[in-house]
Amino acid sequence: MIQELNRIQQEVLQSVGNKFDKDLRHDKTKELRIKLKNAYIIDPYSIDEYIARDGYKALHKVLFSMTPDDVIEEVKKSGLKGRSGGGFPTGMKWSFVKKSDKQHYIIMNADEGESAATIDGVLMRQDPHCAIEGMIIAGFATGATIGYVYIRYEYPEAQRAMEHAIEQAIAKNLLGKNIMGSGVDFDIIMYRGAGAYICGEETSIISSIEGLRGNSKNKPPFPAIEGLFNKPTIINNVETLGIVPQILLNGGEWFASMGVPGSEGTKVFTLTGQLKEPKTVEVPLGTTIRELIELGGGMREGRQFKAFVTGSPNITMLGPNDIDMPIQFDTFKKRQVMVGSGGTVFLDDSTCLMHFMHFNVDLLAIESCGRCTPCRAGTRKMTQFFEKIIEGEATMDDLQKMKDLAEHMRDASLCGLGVAMGMTMYSALYSFEDEFVEHIRDKHCRCGKCFNEVAA
Ligand SMILES: Cc1cc2nc3c(=O)[nH]c(=O)nc-3n(C[C@H](O)[C@H](O)[C@H](O)COP(=O)(O)O)c2cc1C
Repeated sequence: MIQELNRIQQEVLQSVGNKFDKDLRHDKTKELRIKLKNAYIIDPYSIDEYIARDGYKALHKVLFSMTPDDVIEEVKKSGLKGRSGGGFPTGMKWSFVKKSDKQHYIIMNADEGESAATIDGVLMRQDPHCAIEGMIIAGFATGATIGYVYIRYEYPEAQRAMEHAIEQAIAKNLLGKNIMGSGVDFDIIMYRGAGAYICGEETSIISSIEGLRGNSKNKPPFPAIEGLFNKPTIINNVETLGIVPQILLNGGEWFASMGVPGSEGTKVFTLTGQLKEPKTVEVPLGTTIRELIELGGGMREGRQFKAFVTGSPNITMLGPNDIDMPIQFDTFKKRQVMVGSGGTVFLDDSTCLMHFMHFNVDLLAIESCGRCTPCRAGTRKMTQFFEKIIEGEATMDDLQKMKDLAEHMRDASLCGLGVAMGMTMYSALYSFEDEFVEHIRDKHCRCGKCFNEVAA
């Protein structure tokens, strides 16, 4: 089979001319395209072009020269942490699945519900085979023979690209039964969500695939022990699985040599908000916020940088004093800021933070599954507090109540949707407490957006 892959590679390389000769490392910027190496270069509907760029060679290597434990060790060596935001070490997660004769599952989380993120969408539309190859490797490492792609309702184009890629991979015996004659089976099922933000949360995805309402559940048991249909299940994000083939092909050390210790490798970010050139970029972890702003062409003309927001509607933020802070898991965690799935919003000084937060918290109230009271009632109550601030009716006592409520939601909510409110309020107050106080005590909005303006 490797001869067949090499033959296809040679044929395509001879026929495409200089189409692939693009410089992947851009001298003048911090961009380093590893996961995006094929995006906008290959034809995503051509498996041969993927093969020509070393596609499915990692799978061949894994199936014919490695054991499942070798694969897990290599992923651990790479330092890869989940790219959905939590930053959980991928190799460690895979090792939690106890090998047994039970059916195991892999779920590729392609729900990408964050409004500022289009990382997984770009990967699936532009390079669907890398996620498929990563899923098969994850299946081999964890003993799963069935993988579900849980794809968000709003991604029909990505779904088309994935479905087409799955058909092509099956036709070439790179997916399905007895892959490449190795004796290993792996099937992929596409499952389309119905457009709920909560269904990106891992226990809610499981409920949704099982045909239940997309509610989150208590953990433990964790999905790796008891997940889909009560069987051991690994849930990984598209970007996480998409980089796995390259880690296996080039080695864990190669991946770990990029980024910074503890935050190895690269991360894809969607740069949105009040930038001159919003776009999707891939940079080594450790890149600073200022460097991301430069990649986005700078803030809009005549405007000052105000806040770097990760996520949406679950948001955390950093302020102007943090502009040279490197983006890495540990430094962000100390400030209770999520690296997040890569969806970012850059705000300039024309944006009223109270309005911005009200918008996001209100969205959380709408998207809360409602199963636990701290999140169901807490998101609604928090929205009302922001309404009071905007209307000039909040007191300093309300600000204390907001802090208490956020802490209660952090400690008592069932899943990350409510839990994150603690970080949201902590990070907002850390950098912008003066703006809260100006609104509440002085009834002053530096952007001229609140009070009379809202009433009018
Ligand atoms: C409310 C909520 C929404 C989430 N949405 C997504 C999502 O759209 N995509 C995703 O990959 N992870 C999402 N997550 C994180 C998942 O629960 C899970 O941690 C992730 O898929 C693990 O993948 P990783 O280890 O590769 O990062 C969400 C979490 C919460 C609390």
